[in-house]
Amino acid sequence: MTTLDSIKTEALSALEKVTSTDELSELSVSVLGKKGSLTAILRTMGQMTPEERAATGKQANIIKAELEKAFEEKKSALSAAEQERMFLSEAVDVTAPGNKILPRGRLHPMTQTYREIRDALIGLGFTMFDGPEIEYDDYCFTKLNLPPDHPARDMQDTFYINDKVLLRTHTSPCEVRAMLNLKPPFRLVIPGRVFRVDEVDASHSPVFMQMEGLVVDKEINMQNLKGTLLEFVHAVFGENVDIRMRPSYFPFTEPSAEVDISCTICGGKGHVDGKPCRICKGTGWIEVLGCGMSNPHILENCGLDSKEWSAFAFGIGVDRVTSLKYSINDIRHEYENDARFLNQF
Ligand code: DAH
Repeated sequence: MTTLDSIKTEALSALEKVTSTDELSELSVSVLGKKGSLTAILRTMGQMTPEERAATGKQANIIKAELEKAFEEKKSALSAAEQERMFLSEAVDVTAPGNKILPRGRLHPMTQTYREIRDALIGLGFTMFDGPEIEYDDYCFTKLNLPPDHPARDMQDTFYINDKVLLRTHTSPCEVRAMLNLKPPFRLVIPGRVFRVDEVDASHSPVFMQMEGLVVDKEINMQNLKGTLLEFVHAVFGENVDIRMRPSYFPFTEPSAEVDISCTICGGKGHVDGKPCRICKGTGWIEVLGCGMSNPHILENCGLDSKEWSAFAFGIGVDRVTSLKYSINDIRHEYENDARFLNQF
C-alpha cells in the first residue's frame, strides 16, 4: 500500500515537470506500461493473501485511474500548447517587407514623362494611335503640305530607303494615317521614334522621341488648343508653370505657333542670384513644342471636307521635355542607357 502511494506521489510530481508529449509518454510507459512500476506491483499480487490482494487491487485500480486521468489532462494541455507554437512558427507575416534579392526595375525618365503627357491627354478624352517608323514620303511630306522642293526633304536631313519610302522624320505622318482611316471626330495622342540625319552631340540624336497630338472635330479653335497644352504642361511641370504661344510657321498648320513654358529653373524671372539664367538665356521662357490649326490643305489631302471639319495639332519632343523636367544637360544621357544615369530616376 505504501509503495502504491509513493508510486502515485512520484508519478504526479514527475508529471509536473513534464514539458512535452514525448516526455509524457515516457513517463506514462514507466508507470503504467508493461514494465511500469504500477504494473510490477500488480504482478506481485499472486503472492498475497486474498484480503491483501482485494485491498491492493482496489487501491491500485483507483491510483491507475487517477494517473490515467492526470496524464490525459496533461496530454491535451501539452498538445494544445505544441500546436499553438507550431502555428506561430509557421505563420507568414504577409505585411513584412520581402527579401531584397533582385534589384527593382524602374521606368526610363523619358517613359515617365511620356506617360505623364499621355495620361493628361487621355484625361481629356484622347485615345492612343500608332503609325510605322518606315513611312511613305507621301505621308511624311507631300500630304502634309511639304512640297517636293521643301528643304526638309533633303537627303541631308532624311534617311531614305528608296524614292518613295523613308524613316519618318516626325510623328506628323500619323496625322495623315488617322485622317485617311478614322471617322471624325477624334482626339489622338501618337508617340513614337523619329529619325533624322544628324551628328550626335549634346542636343542632337539621329533617333529621338516625339509625341503628336491631333484633334479633328467641328469648330475647333486656338482656345481649345491652348487649353489642351496647358493641361499637360501642368501635369508634367506643375501648376505654377505658364505657357505662351509665339506666331511661327509649319507647312501643316495655319496659323502656327511655337509654345514656350515659363523657365523651370529661374521660375520665369530670367535671372538666378542676380545673374542671367543659363537655361532660358535670361528670357524667362523655354520653347517646348510646335502646334497650330491644321492647314485646310492637309484635311482635303486626306479626304476630309475642310468646311465641315477643323483640327488642331501639336508635336512635342519628349526628350526635350524630359531634359527640362529633370535638368538633363545632354540628350545623349537619354539614349545611352547608362545604368548610373537611369538609376537616378
Ligand atoms: N512635326 C514637327 C517637327 O517635327 C512638329 C510639329 C509642329 C508637329 C507643329 C505638329 C505641329 O503637329 O502642328 O518639328
